[in-house]
Amino acid sequence: MNLHLPADFLWGAATASYQVEGAVDVDGRLPSIWDDFVRVPGAVVNGDTADVACDHYRRWPEDLDIMKRLGLDAYRFSVAWPRVIPTGRGEVNAAGLDFYDRLVDALLEAGIRPFATLFHWDLPSALKGGWPERDTAYAYAEYAAVVAARLGDRVKDWNTVNEPLCSAWLGYLEGRFAPGIKDLKQAIHASHHLLLAHGLGVQAITANAAEPANVGLVVNLSGIEPASDSTEDVEAAARMDGHVNRWWLDPSNGRGYPADMIEVYGVEPPVIGDDLEVISTPVGYHGLNYYFRQIVEDDPNGPAPRARQVPVEGAATTAMGWEIHGQGLADLIHRLANEYGARAIYVTESGAAFDDKVAEDGSIDDADRIAYLEEHLGAVAGAAEAGAPVKGYFAWSLLDNFEWDSGLSKRFGLVRVDYDTQVRTVKASGHRYAEIIAEHRNR
Ligand code: NOJ
Repeated sequence: MNLHLPADFLWGAATASYQVEGAVDVDGRLPSIWDDFVRVPGAVVNGDTADVACDHYRRWPEDLDIMKRLGLDAYRFSVAWPRVIPTGRGEVNAAGLDFYDRLVDALLEAGIRPFATLFHWDLPSALKGGWPERDTAYAYAEYAAVVAARLGDRVKDWNTVNEPLCSAWLGYLEGRFAPGIKDLKQAIHASHHLLLAHGLGVQAITANAAEPANVGLVVNLSGIEPASDSTEDVEAAARMDGHVNRWWLDPSNGRGYPADMIEVYGVEPPVIGDDLEVISTPVGYHGLNYYFRQIVEDDPNGPAPRARQVPVEGAATTAMGWEIHGQGLADLIHRLANEYGARAIYVTESGAAFDDKVAEDGSIDDADRIAYLEEHLGAVAGAAEAGAPVKGYFAWSLLDNFEWDSGLSKRFGLVRVDYDTQVRTVKASGHRYAEIIAEHRNR
């Protein structure tokens, strides 16, 4: 593969605390809303929990060895708020911070650049009311300051909040994710406080890190296309674009909330004082997670945004049922650059679940994931060649891990995890990624 990418392009992989760490009651960690949610009957496929997951909290040195073998330049992980400030606000738990301190030191020693995400959905349960409460954003800012003060002499790259859409819409509107609430007003309030947390986070990290901090928000975007050229579908696509993309991009890039969407929701976001300025505090880069595009039709009687995704006939899909469409990633990179003026973009997640088969000799020949990886890297390189400022790619995920409401049933890893034995096996896709990295390094 010959990808035309800048010489300093970063080759990475990503994970998130709750999905890999396990050890949920070790060294002072207290429950997060996900520890509670996984115990609700029917919330997670097979009743799986992440109590053990990949046991990464104990096995991280082995996982770091794998990163070295793959030749990664960068590793995106998340810090678990319920380890660092177990009650959400107040007392700092030294043992929790020590874990990330050791991880960061070891990454740097291995020549791997740490990208630390400060919120990847494991909200401390003790924060009453969760994201619909404004106080949660202030609690987050205090937590961000604590982590930045401790790690900011070594960590330079930070993600404030991962995919606020999922926390707000899936957690408080659709009820599919923790805390399992279905209430439009709470969801809108949650969305505003997640964005406020991001803005306060940029300020707290910048103020407390000893070294200059490169801070960004990570959004998950989808290209949205109407299912037909009827006015109804075209308008439904505009509403879905507002719901999925513009609701997050507009305020975080200084444009305020999209007026058309406030009308669609019939709920005002609870903006106070200079919130919109805080939310649009300048960032060092834009983080983009990409999984699929959406073809949508009008759903006049459905819930906000009264638009629904329809399957694409004949499309190849992943084990999640998501359409495989690499070009969509390039389109979104261009959109961030052209419409929102992004000057540095990291693809902070891209990857796919497939039903991997383990051969008799233990190897995993995941040709489908290799094809997916190559297609998406090709799209990134195409965007770079066309002049878009894309600086790096983080494969989701380094390891098979706990896939939220799908539990352990869906595997996204470049590396297989056998959950009975905790044995790790690099899949063919992991070997292929290592090869691509080696071919392109220092070109
Ligand atoms: C994005 C989320 O950030 C991550 O936690 C999740 O596992 C992947 N999407 C795949 O669904």
